[in-house]
Amino acid sequence: MRLLVTGGAGFIGSNFVQFWLDRHPADELVVFDALTYAGNLENLSDLNDRRGYRFVKGRIEDAEAVRRAMDGGEVVVHFAAESFVDRSIVGPQVFVTTNVVGSQVLFDAAREAGVRLFVHVSTDEVYGSLGSTGRFSEETPYAPGNPYSASKAASDLLALAYYKTFGFPVVITHGSNNYGPYQFPEKFIPLFILRAMEGKPLPLYGDGLNVRDWIHVRDHCLGLALIVERGKAGETYNFGGDCERTNLEIARRICELAGRSDALIQFVKDRPGHDRRYAIDYAKAARELGFAPTTSIEAALPEVFRWYADHEPWWRHILSGEYQNFYAQWYAERGGGT
Ligand SMILES: NC(=O)c1ccc[n+]([C@@H]2O[C@H](COP(=O)([O-])OP(=O)(O)OC[C@H]3O[C@@H](n4cnc5c(N)ncnc54)[C@H](O)[C@@H]3O)[C@@H](O)[C@H]2O)c1
Repeated sequence: MRLLVTGGAGFIGSNFVQFWLDRHPADELVVFDALTYAGNLENLSDLNDRRGYRFVKGRIEDAEAVRRAMDGGEVVVHFAAESFVDRSIVGPQVFVTTNVVGSQVLFDAAREAGVRLFVHVSTDEVYGSLGSTGRFSEETPYAPGNPYSASKAASDLLALAYYKTFGFPVVITHGSNNYGPYQFPEKFIPLFILRAMEGKPLPLYGDGLNVRDWIHVRDHCLGLALIVERGKAGETYNFGGDCERTNLEIARRICELAGRSDALIQFVKDRPGHDRRYAIDYAKAARELGFAPTTSIEAALPEVFRWYADHEPWWRHILSGEYQNFYAQWYAERGGGT
């Protein structure tokens, strides 16, 4: 099979590419990624000399570049997005450009290319916030609470409309909060791990009691792989980790793993529009795809903590901005341009 993976140099995308090629070593796979601040070719450096793998630098809003990369692709797995809520509050426009306009350009290119399946990777954040009970199912109405989730919701609705109008073979997925290796250190868990390792204060929003349903990125990739293997066009699937925890619980556990006192935790002014609680009902994915998460955050966090401890050059490059030179350097050494 030949896959096109957009956003494959980011956190979940790069984990998915590794996961997929381990499971389907004979497949051809093209990663298409703009290498924004969140995209890092070092996440994929193990694959550089692998047969059947190719990296293409480009923006998903660029119809011509997308069309060229799509050529011959049977399946598209679409991760490329602006993904950080805090940034969407500071500057919403690029979220609309990438997440909405870029997705629409991709949908059109995929229709034109006649792809068999288009996996539109979305988020549980489109459902907004829960009270103290209940879980999001595929039937939960959309109620996004910030510009990031609104832009993802808009692209989901467009995808569904393309299915209805054109028979576009799309599957939409709503993953809950991911954690694991290669997550960009602006996000909660890696940010706190790195700061705790260095004994720096951990800035926790509000009262720290916001709840997220944490899924290990490997389990999310498993769900997505099951969709590529047996998903049905026009369907939506939720993926969760059965791991509802408050941010405060996670922060305390990180302090413990770092051997630090939880006095490092510093409560800071809450983020505007901060959703209180997310929880995912993944019964449909379990029933139709055989999906089940394989780990809990308690079991996996020590291994994730160790990963960041063992990959100091990776995160130091990011913190210094040096990783952005990697692409130029890597291809310059191989006679390519930037
Ligand atoms: N991180 C989570 O917890 C989570 C949970 C559920 C769903 N998602 C969704 O999964 C997808 C991937 O999330 P992530 O956390 O890996 O994000 P990320 O920010 O780590 O990676 C995004 C990638 O997309 C690329 N990109 C950004 N704009 C682009 C553009 N215009 N054209 C081409 N490439 C572009 C970046 O260079 C980067 O490699 C997103 O669609 C996100 O909404 C994330």
